[in-house]
Amino acid sequence: MGKVSFKPYDPSLLINEFGDPIRAGDLVVAEPYVFNYPFQGTPAFLIRLAGPVRTSRLKTESGQTYESLSGVGPNQTIVAFSAICAHKMMYPTPNISFIGLRKGVGREPQTVIHCCGDDSRYDPSQGAQVIGGPAPQPLACIVMRHDPKTDGLRAVGTLGGEMFKAFFDKYEFKLNIDNGPKSKQLCTSTTVCKELKRYSRQLQGCPA
Ligand code: FES
Repeated sequence: MGKVSFKPYDPSLLINEFGDPIRAGDLVVAEPYVFNYPFQGTPAFLIRLAGPVRTSRLKTESGQTYESLSGVGPNQTIVAFSAICAHKMMYPTPNISFIGLRKGVGREPQTVIHCCGDDSRYDPSQGAQVIGGPAPQPLACIVMRHDPKTDGLRAVGTLGGEMFKAFFDKYEFKLNIDNGPKSKQLCTSTTVCKELKRYSRQLQGCPA
């Protein structure tokens, strides 16, 4: 079925709410952060894991293969993924999030991305590979670049099974209410990044 390759979008520097660049070294391990990319209404997770992230061989629902990227930043520990669940596209909204991070238990990896909608689970240390539940493909990777001089982080594209068209088809009306008409516009040269617990007023924790 062929390969999926890197899809570039306009680069966007991650900044905090005060306009200052996010510094990779300041990110808290296993704390989920959210920024919108590549569109102003499509949320993505930024995650710093405890150890280095290597590449993984993955497959989309349509059978296309790709190799997820290694982590960036300190010790190659930082990864980013679209926060739109690959099952029925639940995503973090300003009011509530049913998808988030929790500690792994038993044979799970140390950190798990878990969507409580229908219990899909993803491994952020393996390109958001599906490790349980009905999701038919990994979360799409957001391709990040780290600048070692400034310690800044820039999103530059995606890799994997993008779902943005279906997402806008399904949620355009709600996105317009939550975010205004800019949701379908591409991000500009900066995008705000904050902790998931501040991005969404309420977090629906999923039991392990
Ligand atoms: S929408 Fe996430 S598991 Fe169904």
